[in-house]
Order: sequence, then structure tokens, then C-alpha cells
Amino acid sequence: MFKRVPGTKDILPEEAPLWLKLEETSRAIFSLYNFKEIRPPMLEEESLFNRSLGESAEIVQKQMFVIKNKEDVYALRPEGTASIVRAYLENNLDKTAGFSKLYYIGPMFRLERPQKGRLRQFHHIGCEAIGSQDADLDVEVISLADYLLKAYEISGYNIKINTLGCPKDKSELNSVLHKALKDKLPKLCDDCKDRFKKNTLRILDCKNESCKEIIKDLRIGDSHICPECKEHFAKVRGGLDALGVSYEVVPLLVRGLDYYNGTVFEITHPDLGSQDAIGAGGRYNHLVKELGGPEFGAIGFAFGVERLLLVAKPQSSSSGQKPVYLITLGEEAKKAGLKILSQLRQAGIPCDTDYEGKSLKGAMRKANDLGAKYVLILGDNEIKSGTVTLKNMENSEQKEVMLADITKELKC
Ligand code: HAM
Repeated sequence: MFKRVPGTKDILPEEAPLWLKLEETSRAIFSLYNFKEIRPPMLEEESLFNRSLGESAEIVQKQMFVIKNKEDVYALRPEGTASIVRAYLENNLDKTAGFSKLYYIGPMFRLERPQKGRLRQFHHIGCEAIGSQDADLDVEVISLADYLLKAYEISGYNIKINTLGCPKDKSELNSVLHKALKDKLPKLCDDCKDRFKKNTLRILDCKNESCKEIIKDLRIGDSHICPECKEHFAKVRGGLDALGVSYEVVPLLVRGLDYYNGTVFEITHPDLGSQDAIGAGGRYNHLVKELGGPEFGAIGFAFGVERLLLVAKPQSSSSGQKPVYLITLGEEAKKAGLKILSQLRQAGIPCDTDYEGKSLKGAMRKANDLGAKYVLILGDNEIKSGTVTLKNMENSEQKEVMLADITKELKC
């Protein structure tokens, strides 16, 4: 017996309607905000992620699924943003469409130690708005995340926001942190000792409990943020207040990827334990340029679908019409049955039949299990008279119907 790869999941037929519901809700709401769908490939050049997320990012250092083929080195995408910006530029959308609002739904891959809410193949529902530095766009994107969560019927989540400022502010923050952590260096984990040298900011993402304790006590204020970035952030907060979006400012929220600057946010849910982020995002104003495009501002976010489903428990809308179940008795009827099924399907009536040679009783039980409202019974007598027996499973009424009239009868 083969087993699935650790950290992957089979989405079984009983769960699939929940996924579909989440996806449909997302598509409907993205389109209310005029976001358009984009579907980049799952495989990209590895260097795209090294360049975008940063060599010192945990994802790049430890979590990439890399595929080497002769001189080509590819990676299964660990996230969507870098791919979307690559696709945006490669397809000249910067020139033809300019400012673009794009959304995506699909699998991402990270070589992590699997645990509840942490998988090696997981799914993002995400969006990217590329081509503007307007603070109102930050407000729209964060309020869109809030709207989506409400539409998924999730409550009790916390939106945490912060600003990293411009690259100069960010490097200033790095120095402030460097100073603040210097004395505490011996108490940090080995990874953080390394981060201290290479990219001190990354220490703030450390999951090690003793490092987290040290970080919790840091007070760094906002003196490293320049006046323009402070003003941008004040506008974002004012916009969110005006729309009634609840949020908390968390000064040490920095996010684990290098491309971020300006507004960053994370949405957590208290029911999730240690992997409590259901979604996250922020501005990445310099990534478009970094990947060879113009100096375009951009902002986006992504939800982790598996984590949404851990807190959402949406009711599946046991989709659509109940099927009609056809029971045939004998070879002749079986042959004629295929034609009837084809006619019903062409008329848009969902239907099914038995392929396992069940007895009449067994087939009736199967129809019941499938939730069929009607059963059609076709035997030698019916074939001779050009009829079919129609049984209503809800009231057990039964009648003969001319074969030619069956579609009409079932449509009423
Ligand atoms: P991220 O924080 O790495 O951001 O991932 C976004 C969300 O994906 C997380 O908040 C979490 O819900 C989910 N997630 C991440 N890793 C896993 C995992 N191993 N198993 C299950 N769920 C996971 C990004 O990926 C950015 N690209 C978001 C973004 C878009 N920023 C700007 N635009």
C-alpha cells in the first residue's frame, strides 16, 4: 500500500464541497473589488524565490522543494507573490494593463516539519495589487481580507498591522535591533546567532521559545520610521478606522520575507495553537523593480486554506439537484439504459446507474444512499411497452411514464 507523502493531504469527496464553497465565495468577493484571476505555473526557476524572498529567509534556506534537471534548477513555488510579479512582467502587463489587481487560488509547497496547520503542500487564496503606492490601496486590501473572512463566516480573528517603512527605515530598524540584541546574543539560538550577523530582522520571526521571550521584551519604538512612511501608515490606520475594520498595531511585526516594506499585516486566530496565522501580507514596493520592472508599488496577502478550514467549519451547500437513479433489469434494459442516461444528462438532469451488478434491492439501497429523489426502473416489460417505471423516493409513489416523456416528466 502506498501512503501519501508526509505533510500532504487528500481532499476527499465529502470535503471537496467545502473547498468549492470557499473558492466560490472568494471569487465572488474578489470580483466585487475588481480583482481578476491569474494562474501562474507551480514550477519556477529557483533563483526567482532566492532573489525575491531573500537568501536569509527561512523558506529559501530550509523549505524549498528544488528540482534539478541538468543545468536547470527549478523550485515548486513556496508562495505566490514572486510568481505573480514574474508573470506580470514577463507578459508585459506593466505596459499593457499598468495598475493591476490579480488574485490566485492554488497549491504552494514548503519543506516543513508537518504538524497541525503546517503542511508541505498547502493552498493559498491570495491577491496582489501591483502598480500603486496609494495608502487607500492598503486600506482596500486589508478590508478585503476582513470582508473575505466574514464571508467565510469566520469570527474571532485578529488583524495585526505594522509598518516597516522604506528600505532606509528598514535598515535603520536592523541597526536598532542589532544594538538592542547585542547583549542578549549568548542567549539566542544558533540560527539567531547567524541571523544576527546576516539579517538581524529575521530574529523577530524565530519560533524558538527562548528567543521569543527575549523578543517579547524588546521596546524599539518607531524612531527609525521616516516622516513620509509615518504619514502613509497614519493614513492606512485612519482608512481602516473609517471603514470600521478592527486591527491592532504590533510594532515588532516584520514578516519573514525580504521583499516587504511599508505596511505589513498578519491575521491570527486563537483557536489554532502555535500555527495561528490564517493569512498575511503587506507592501512590497521594490520587488517589481528588483525583478526587472519599473518602480511600481504593490501590496497583497494570502490566506492558508487549510487553516481557514480549521476555523471556518462552513456548511457545504450539498450542491445542487439530487440525482435520478436508473435501475435496469436484464441485458436489453442495460443497453437501453445508457441511452436514457445520455438523454437525461443532455437535458441537464444529473443521473447515475449501477455498474456493480446489484440486485433490485441492492440498487434501491444505493439510490437511497445517493439521496436520489427519483428512481427509474427499466425491465423487459417496460422495454416492450416503450415505458419506464418512475418511483418518487420521497413519497414512494410509482407510475408508468412513456420513455419519450421521461425528460419532460423529470424536469417538472
Ligand atoms: P506567508 O505568511 O508565508 O505569506 O503565507 C500566508 C499564509 O499561508 C500563512 O498565514 C498561513 O495561513 C499559510 N501557510 C504558510 N505556510 C503554511 C504551511 N506550511 N502549511 C499550511 N499553511 C501555511 C506569503 O506566502 C506571502 N506570499 C503573502 C503575500 C501576498 N504577501 C503579499 N502578497
